[in-house]
Amino acid sequence: MSSTPDEMALLARARHVLVGGVNSPVRAMGAIGRDPLFIDRATGPHLWDTEGRQYIDYLGTWGPAILGHAPPQVISAVELALPRGTSFGAPTAREVIFAELVCELVPSIEQLRMTSSGSEAVMGAMRLARAATGREVIVKTTGGYHGALDGLLAEAGSGATTLGVPTSPGVPAGATAATRLVPYNDVAAAAEALDGAAAMIVEPVAGNMGVVPPADGYLAGLRAACDAAGALLIFDEVMTGFRVALGGAQGRWGVRPDLTCLGKVIGGGLPVGAFGGRREIMAELAPVGPAYQAGTLSGNPLATAAGLVTLRSLMADGVYEKLEENGASLEDAIVASGAPVRINRVGSMLTAFFTDAPVTDYASATRADTEAFGRWARALLDAGIYPPPSQFEAWFVSLAHGRREIEQTAEALARAA
Ligand SMILES: Cc1ncc(COP(=O)(O)O)c(C=O)c1O
Repeated sequence: MSSTPDEMALLARARHVLVGGVNSPVRAMGAIGRDPLFIDRATGPHLWDTEGRQYIDYLGTWGPAILGHAPPQVISAVELALPRGTSFGAPTAREVIFAELVCELVPSIEQLRMTSSGSEAVMGAMRLARAATGREVIVKTTGGYHGALDGLLAEAGSGATTLGVPTSPGVPAGATAATRLVPYNDVAAAAEALDGAAAMIVEPVAGNMGVVPPADGYLAGLRAACDAAGALLIFDEVMTGFRVALGGAQGRWGVRPDLTCLGKVIGGGLPVGAFGGRREIMAELAPVGPAYQAGTLSGNPLATAAGLVTLRSLMADGVYEKLEENGASLEDAIVASGAPVRINRVGSMLTAFFTDAPVTDYASATRADTEAFGRWARALLDAGIYPPPSQFEAWFVSLAHGRREIEQTAEALARAA
């Protein structure tokens, strides 16, 4: 699919005033060797670009669109909230109701602090973990992404334990000096690295090296290793929260972290994040405790309106069974297309890796053939399917993807294979 003159003109304007024409790097679609598409609107399982082309969407705005796009109940909730004011910078009753619901549904959360993004939630959780333990080192997994914050932009390294080296210029070495890297799915490496550490932060299902499920016993092993080291366990459930189960990955695997970071789904498509955990740890946070964290738009009334109705929708009977079924149908369709991929799937999130070996960590994920993925993704776009524009991202299926969309996807996959 080649760009139309109008698309080329818009891209030129975008590149003049926005870096790379985008506001977040992967959107530029460089990883699949094409220019970005500008989106005009979205409803249910569909996206339309500015040229009126329709796509079945599996990006799901990188996770939040679990009900599909513009679900009527979310639109109504935001429409009701809108005329009452878009931001107060003061407490509201709705954020209390929202927090009560999150505390009820997420097993380990007794108290919450809301933010405006997942990155801010992680930043707050890290500061809190350091304040609560009086220690500095944070252990993270290679290939684990926790937002664009300095201290965790350290991914490079080999061997079981590597001292963090910044991945991005502009991150001072000092910012990652207290970050230790270990491979995902390796409890022994984590146990060793946790010596003297404040916390381990982990995506309980890795989603940012492509989807990589936790091996049997991995999450429970991390819990035990953190306990043995006197360190806190932080689950970054920005992606998995309310996605892989109503109680997130911790509900699905029955492992309770000390702190949990949330984002994406809990905002119903509006900008939101949150972190929470045990009451005595949260009590370290200002204004009760000394650890400072704040945000002008935190607990924003539109975001809590969208988030609240989204969470309530997810509490209906059969929702997670339906998401599982939709995820399985997409997986079956990809397998049936004959694409030479290995699929990792947890419920409604999956990645099709262009490799013939199992993908269990960052090293095995990065052996995938990114050129082949790029060709496939471009062909899928041509066929009206919108995949995540990188080999190392998750596909998200929503409740709005019905049998019809999956059948159309299967036909398009067959054409793209
Ligand atoms: C696991 C995880 N943590 C944190 C973040 C950062 O969230 P945000 O982009 O809302 O700042 C992301 C974003 O993709 C994520 O996937």
